[in-house]
Amino acid sequence: MALSAAALSDAEPTIAELIAARPHLSMHAMDGLVMDGVPLAAIADAAGTPVWVYSAATMRARLAQLSGALTGAGLDAQVHFAVKANDRLAVLRVFAAAGAGADVVSAGELLRARAAGMSPARMVFSGVGKTAAELRLALEHDIAEINVESAEELEMLSAIAAGSGHTARVALRVNPDVDAGTHAKITTGRADNKFGVPIDTAAALYAQAAGLPGIRPVGIALHIGSQILAAGPYRAAYGRVADLVRALRSSGLTVESVDCGGGLGIGYRDEPAASPAAFAGAIRATLGGLGLRIMVEPGRWLVGPAGVLLASVVLIKHGARRRFVVLDTAMNDLLRPAMYDAWHGIVPLSAVDAVQPVTAADVVGPVCETGDTFARDRALPPLAPHARVAILDAGAYGSVMSSTYNARPLAAEVLVDGDRWQVIRPRQEPAAMWADERVPDWLG
Ligand code: LLP
Repeated sequence: MALSAAALSDAEPTIAELIAARPHLSMHAMDGLVMDGVPLAAIADAAGTPVWVYSAATMRARLAQLSGALTGAGLDAQVHFAVKANDRLAVLRVFAAAGAGADVVSAGELLRARAAGMSPARMVFSGVGKTAAELRLALEHDIAEINVESAEELEMLSAIAAGSGHTARVALRVNPDVDAGTHAKITTGRADNKFGVPIDTAAALYAQAAGLPGIRPVGIALHIGSQILAAGPYRAAYGRVADLVRALRSSGLTVESVDCGGGLGIGYRDEPAASPAAFAGAIRATLGGLGLRIMVEPGRWLVGPAGVLLASVVLIKHGARRRFVVLDTAMNDLLRPAMYDAWHGIVPLSAVDAVQPVTAADVVGPVCETGDTFARDRALPPLAPHARVAILDAGAYGSVMSSTYNARPLAAEVLVDGDRWQVIRPRQEPAAMWADERVPDWLG
């Protein structure tokens, strides 16, 4: 027996509440769910499902809101979009055109950001395991800054830079040992996480860096985790960095900039999202008086709410105890629920479906794993086969984490810009999944 809606565990936002909380989405009697000026059903009809859809206007508005909060706090700040959250060329182009730089973590991201037309002068390179080839590439592209995460990396970079006649502008990424209060798999600023150099050894390493050939230390970087909803952890971490900056300067070293990282959380369910004003306030309160250039590198907050994943109902399966809504999208497309038990809103595209009485259902994909579950006991209308739904807040860590597991081709992707839209990546053809494979001749 399906649970009645009244028996659903703790109150979850209704379909109407989910839509009302997302300014780029609205429900229309005829057109159904609309993103900005485009009915999502029209995109699903033309491009098929599953399909990712991103709102350019939402990305621009959120970047403007964040930049405005930083400027409003009197900070000389630059936003570097964390490319890992969504690296589609069209998405990067939207951010670049709106004035954002890029935070990259691999040669692939660096080259992608360049291919999207992003300027190396507004690029920083983070990551705990940059290879020699990646460091060389960063130097060749003369990117703004390399965020070095260990003494070992610093030595490697010095040798490469000096050997090739470059001077690397380096920020030292410190690990402030602050609990960001987020999911264990995405916390990065605790002493036992692999990231950054322990903050108590950072001053010595920074001084050492100043004496190394090919290295010019310019600042400090940190990133304490992702999906952070409160300002407290930021304040604690930036307070420690401010102390470090003062200590470095009092020993005669130059510190021009602090890269404050990203991590601002969004409201997936009904939790209040991180506030850019509170984030900017935490920076101002701690680092504000030091005459620093401030950089921030959020991903999720800028692009997460801008994206949805559209899917069609394959069938409704009535199990012994549960109603299963089986979609044509799966964990290979959106991994977050399987990987982090993440909660994503699910709303029908049809206005008629959206007002039907709801009962509990498990929303699942067709992949052969029980973890391939998007939602459990979710209050949803009946949803017949072929009905379509939007999985919300899928703009960050969505398509970038997709795979072709179960030989499921990568889904199509679409950018909505006002009332225009275009496919920015076509659905992968099945044969493309094995086109670059080789069968050894001896196998016949
Ligand atoms: N900077 C650095 C050095 C990072 O490692 C990250 C994210 C960011 C910036 C951007 O963080 P954001 O502002 O997006 O929170 N796949 C996970 C999230 C992993 C985040 C990894 N690092 C998820 O789906 O929740």
